[in-house]
Amino acid sequence: MKVVGFVGSPREGGNTEIMVEEILKGASMSGAETEIFNLNKLNIKPCQACMHCKSNEGECATDDDMQKIYKEIMESDAFILGSPIYMWQMSAQAKLFTDRLYAPMGFEEKFGKTSSALVFSQGNPDIDSFEEYINSTKEVFNLLGYTVKGVLISAGDQSPGDVKNKDDVLKKAREIGKDLAN
Ligand SMILES: Cc1cc2nc3c(=O)[nH]c(=O)nc-3n(C[C@H](O)[C@H](O)[C@H](O)COP(=O)(O)O)c2cc1C
Repeated sequence: MKVVGFVGSPREGGNTEIMVEEILKGASMSGAETEIFNLNKLNIKPCQACMHCKSNEGECATDDDMQKIYKEIMESDAFILGSPIYMWQMSAQAKLFTDRLYAPMGFEEKFGKTSSALVFSQGNPDIDSFEEYINSTKEVFNLLGYTVKGVLISAGDQSPGDVKNKDDVLKKAREIGKDLAN
């Protein structure tokens, strides 16, 4: 059992990273092997819409760090995508990752069944302010073939580490982690 986390915030030690780490902690407590990647440190190009993937069993023609990530996802049972809310949406780093998941879409037999969880940190203190966007993002990941088992949102985060004071959010994170590992 392996669970991997992808962090779409450029801030190391930021709220997104803390929540993804906490989910991984929950998964690890349930016996999963875990690994975390910061998307900001990886070279991930935008999808080129070349459609190479659709006639080559989900293989992406773009040779960058996403190749390593495809392999990680293939070898994992679940992954977490964490992102700060930037301009009402996920960060650019998280969006590049998401678009590139178009390649393996439809080739689940080859890539194996992988579930997922989504994590968002937002400055707005109203937790419902991006509900519609977050629900549609959840649908995107379900459609891509990665059944979303949990969504974690922390609202009212400004400085890196604000979420550390939120015991309810951290508790929910560990519960999602346990669920991903089972
Ligand atoms: C470029 C940029 C755009 C942002 N846009 C929004 C936004 O639209 N809505 C919001 O609630 N917070 C917004 N924020 C605040 C972040 O979502 C918030 O501070 C979050 O905790 C950052 O996560 P991190 O600590 O993991 O980097 C924005 C921050 C930045 C830097």
